[in-house]
Amino acid sequence: ILIVFMLAVTIYTLRELPYNQPVYSAGAEPTVVDVEAMQFGWELSQTQFKAGEPVEFKVKSNDVNHGFGIYDEDMNILTQTQAMPAYTNEVYITFDEPGTYEVLCMEYCGLAHHAMTAEITVTE
Ligand code: CUA
Repeated sequence: ILIVFMLAVTIYTLRELPYNQPVYSAGAEPTVVDVEAMQFGWELSQTQFKAGEPVEFKVKSNDVNHGFGIYDEDMNILTQTQAMPAYTNEVYITFDEPGTYEVLCMEYCGLAHHAMTAEITVTE
């Protein structure tokens, strides 16, 4: 009985997997942005977006592991993924509100880890 119960709970709680699903509707063409992480900075192929525009970040690293995290103006995290060498992680987001968003590194990557930031601007 316990095994059946645990199995039911597991299936129920994991039914949303994979979490990395696009947050925009199927058929919508996202803006694709290349993100390269390096000690100690970010290179984004685009940093200006419109509110409501679906965006797909393709994230990789030129050196060590980094963490690509996007924060709103209140420093609430909106989404994140790993920036890894020789591997591209995809993360999707639609910015609902205009404003300035912050990209912070979420993985300790060396002496200037704390300085590894970038800014994203979202307009009406
Ligand atoms: Cu890059 Cu910490």
